[in-house]
Amino acid sequence: MSSRAERRATARANANIALVKYWGKREGNPGRNLPAVGSFSITLDGLSTTTTITPDASLSLDEYRRGGEPRPQEAARVIGFMDQVRALAGSTVKARVETDNTFPTGAGLASSASGFAALAKAASTAYGLELDDRELSMLARDGSGSAARSIFGGFVRWQRGEAADGNDSFAEPVFPATHWPLRVLVGVTDENAKATGSTDGMIRTQETSPYFDGWVAGQRADLAEAEAAVAEKDFERLAAVSEYSCLKMHASAQAARPGVIYWNAATVAAMHVVRTLRESGTPVFFTIDAGPQLKAVCEPEAESSVAKALAEVDGVQRVISAGLGAGVEVIE
Ligand code: PMV
Repeated sequence: MSSRAERRATARANANIALVKYWGKREGNPGRNLPAVGSFSITLDGLSTTTTITPDASLSLDEYRRGGEPRPQEAARVIGFMDQVRALAGSTVKARVETDNTFPTGAGLASSASGFAALAKAASTAYGLELDDRELSMLARDGSGSAARSIFGGFVRWQRGEAADGNDSFAEPVFPATHWPLRVLVGVTDENAKATGSTDGMIRTQETSPYFDGWVAGQRADLAEAEAAVAEKDFERLAAVSEYSCLKMHASAQAARPGVIYWNAATVAAMHVVRTLRESGTPVFFTIDAGPQLKAVCEPEAESSVAKALAEVDGVQRVISAGLGAGVEVIE
């Protein structure tokens, strides 16, 4: 029985990339993605997930398709999330979940961020939940940590929070996309899904890496530094703290047992290209997530030269260009 009327709903959310990374989960409440550290990100435009939820009382199971195809390996996580939404709504009605990404899935391009943000918005709307943005951010976080940030556009902070139930661990907008129209160029070095997912990588890092405590200890200072750099639009300062956070995250993961290595040769070559460009005066820095793609963040006037330099790196298969974008929205 359902206490509310279900309806079909479609939502679209953009990917985000963290400049100060989320890496590690707090003890307790493993299903809720309570982070060991806060993080700070930019929401992109153009790299998006669109998800339609069609509740249908005649279904005995949820049906999940991405890009028109059933994906059994992804379905369990999505259905678990749908069960959570139904429990909140007091509904037992199953649904068709149809989703599509405008970019490669599961390869460190933040598909889980846009994916669970779009799913949270579409499913909560479909089941008649009236959530404010904070509640929506926490719901998306339960699906995938970084999805908490894709609820909002522009520059976004996700607070670590202290509460054991996670109710103070939500994202919030800090500056709108118009504050500083940075560009992001993604050097795609491998379109295949990564070997070690972010949750497994994080858990292995926190359980075995001698550098994990150092990573956590520095986070508050890095977050304050990044927000101050963005407030002042100080590119050099943002570049320094962003690369520092990225390299610390990867160094801590690489020091796990066995080490978690997300980079390939082209990732490393592209890092050097970005550093060389910056040394010669081009406003650009890199960041890398739980996969082999390199994301170069630059001032708008540097975009074409950075795109050209990245495209010439051996092993870079293509370059995707994005600006800063908006938060999640219901589009139907
Ligand atoms: O939310 P998850 O489980 O996809 O983890 C995201 C982890 C990083 O992308 C590496 C860092 C981040 O803050 O987005």
